[in-house]
Amino acid sequence: MTSKTENMDPTITDGASEEEQRIIIRGGKPLNGQVRLHGAKNAVLKMMAAALLAKGTTVLKNVPNLSDVHMMANVLRHLGAKVTISGSEVEIDATDVHEWEAPYELVSKLRASFVVLGPLMARFREAKVSLPGGCAIGERKIDLHERGLKLLGAEVRIDHGYVIASAKKLTGTTIYLDRPSNGATENIMLAAVGAEGTTIIENAAQDPEIVNLADCINAMGGKVEGAGTYQITIEGVPLEELHGGVIDTIPDRVEGGTFMFATMVTGGDVLIEGIDPHHLYSVISKCSEMGAEISMYAPDMLRIKSERGKLKATDVTTHPYPGFPTDLQALIMPVLCFTSGTSIITETIYENRFMHAAELRRMGADITIKGNSAVIKGVDKLMGAEVKSSDLRAAAALIIAGLGAEGVTEVTELKHLDRGYENLEEKFRGLGADIWRR
Ligand code: EPU
Repeated sequence: MTSKTENMDPTITDGASEEEQRIIIRGGKPLNGQVRLHGAKNAVLKMMAAALLAKGTTVLKNVPNLSDVHMMANVLRHLGAKVTISGSEVEIDATDVHEWEAPYELVSKLRASFVVLGPLMARFREAKVSLPGGCAIGERKIDLHERGLKLLGAEVRIDHGYVIASAKKLTGTTIYLDRPSNGATENIMLAAVGAEGTTIIENAAQDPEIVNLADCINAMGGKVEGAGTYQITIEGVPLEELHGGVIDTIPDRVEGGTFMFATMVTGGDVLIEGIDPHHLYSVISKCSEMGAEISMYAPDMLRIKSERGKLKATDVTTHPYPGFPTDLQALIMPVLCFTSGTSIITETIYENRFMHAAELRRMGADITIKGNSAVIKGVDKLMGAEVKSSDLRAAAALIIAGLGAEGVTEVTELKHLDRGYENLEEKFRGLGADIWRR
């Protein structure tokens, strides 16, 4: 299969400031060809934080060029690490880290940076990290992070918008999480590396990004077992035994889902390279149920074929991994608009993750929100319109809608998109879409 290059328009950004940039899509072109996934944002950001654990240099490979990665690099630099980004490799020398305060100006730009709390506690027994606050998709509490650190023996208080934690020593224990929070699992895992004895996290998040983080900690001399299951065991190690490590970032499963859904709204035949299908079973199963044809070409190459006008309605409920991911909830919504029946999406992870629905309605979608459910009635067509992204995944959802819509769609507020996708519009152009940035 070859990539189509017809309809390629040059990316024109001259004259538009980053804030004014928009993605312009002339919809209705089928996608055909081959595309390669970049590394997972939600894995790499946490592994960057893990590098703080050890005096030494950690090298992360297959790192995507995302604004979130650059912002995380700035957080680490503020703490005293030397961070070099070259191509898809990030080198972090944390030998001279001397600061354990992550200020509001930095953490508020990037919620994921809250995960420096764990390694700072492991290494210095002291940390002051700004509370990240809520965001467009929900409240995003941190009570489980706080409780986990307290159970490890830390004193934790909230003062003037900061989490301030300190401990004479950390001691391993069993910590049950009321819900399998990714962030809490990560912070506790990282702090427990510096605890005396064994920590067991029960009802841990089982996401592939947690496994990648555990592999990274182990490459640095840590002892973590069971990542990828609901029970993770962390054996504390003396800090002087930790060292830098080299680790590959897993593929971005959300980017994988993005290309699958885009192929479904446009119709077409796309080969997605560098994918791990094990990470996407819930999504593959939904796509097949809706009528897409999915096959594996090679262990890391998924082929999706889909015909426009043949998609069936279905219901989707988001769940912690391995359930259907909340991060792909916004993106499946436009696909459901192109079915012939009525579908219901139920969001169970966040309280407020339907902001994209109002924008999709502006394109002609028939969507009603009732509490944490969205009822989507299939329509004959979506029509291009100017639409505004409210968060990263909403931005991708609107692009998918635009690719399937009639006429021209303009997606604004691209700062959200650039946090999590590298060259998305170029990749779509390579598949034959009529899409450019201006
Ligand atoms: N929660 C609590 N208490 C806590 C922690 C979390 O009640 O102490 C709640 C949150 O309020 C939320 C739910 O649990 O409603 C899930 O939170 P989780 O901690 O699992 O999420 P996170 O670590 O903050 C990561 C991803 C998100 C993704 C979620 C769920 C990163 C940087 N972010 O967030 O990704 O939606 O897990 O899978 O890893 C995205 O990439 O667009 C994104 C938002």
